[in-house]
Amino acid sequence: MPSKSSTIAGEVDALFYFILIATAIVFAIVVSGLVLFSIRYRRRTATAPLTSGKAHDTKLEIIWTVIPTILVIILFFWGFNVYLKMRVVPRNAMEIKVTGRKWFWVFDYPDGTKAMNELVVPAGKPVRLLLSSEDVIHSFYIPAFRIKMDALPNRYTETWFEATQTGAFDIFCAEYCGKGHSEMTGLVKVLTPEDYTAWRDSSLAAVPETTSPVDRGRQLFSQRACNTCHTIDGAPMVGPTFKNLYGHTVTLEGGSSVTADENYIRRSILEPKAEIVSGFQPVMPTYQGLLNDRDIDALVAYIKSLKDQKDE
Ligand code: CUA
Repeated sequence: MPSKSSTIAGEVDALFYFILIATAIVFAIVVSGLVLFSIRYRRRTATAPLTSGKAHDTKLEIIWTVIPTILVIILFFWGFNVYLKMRVVPRNAMEIKVTGRKWFWVFDYPDGTKAMNELVVPAGKPVRLLLSSEDVIHSFYIPAFRIKMDALPNRYTETWFEATQTGAFDIFCAEYCGKGHSEMTGLVKVLTPEDYTAWRDSSLAAVPETTSPVDRGRQLFSQRACNTCHTIDGAPMVGPTFKNLYGHTVTLEGGSSVTADENYIRRSILEPKAEIVSGFQPVMPTYQGLLNDRDIDALVAYIKSLKDQKDE
């Protein structure tokens, strides 16, 4: 096993070893029983009478029903508990955008810092990764953190981790994505919080002209004329306002509702007629072909920045 370097790693390993040992024990019981009985009850001579088959044994049937049922129930609750911990991102997590491309990883930090194949994070702080791909399906995998998540074109996925020790750990692509797949590796460097701040300041100083995703989104908001129909101050216009949209529940025409997450915003930009917000007319044109993935990332970041912080 690689080192256990995230908060979830120990729990994933404990569950893995439980499954491994439980299945090894069941395997040993079944195979040794098979071998022993084959020898013990073999037909010794050609003329020996066949044994009469045993039709039923209530005690045995209860044992081999109840024990596996208990095992499966334990596995379900244990596994579901760990799964939830891996899926639910802590509220105070910092966020980094991860983009898979044939054949490298691009990391975008909220302040505009950008890196290739090298993810730098502070230890002891939860980090949310928002993943997507520019071409085919990749899978972002950090064995030492026990996390793996597909990066898909045309959709956002997310995962998170909290590194528990400093050091450098491997990043792999775990989904065959073409001839460069095995080269699609990287490193995650975990620094102490002080070193991380110093690194971020120096990397920002190195690229002073950088535009953060939020700033880029703000420019696109007026350049692409989003502001002719949407406001950022809470007042509805032709379309709903963007203020406090992110993370909230939106009621749709027809009564259903949806949470305004990254995928909802993306869909609303590319397929505006798919989900009409209750009380509005389906008049928005699609931006399919007018905005590329980076533009959409930026608009999503901008809309997220319009969320009231004290609202939580
Ligand atoms: Cu990307 Cu395999």
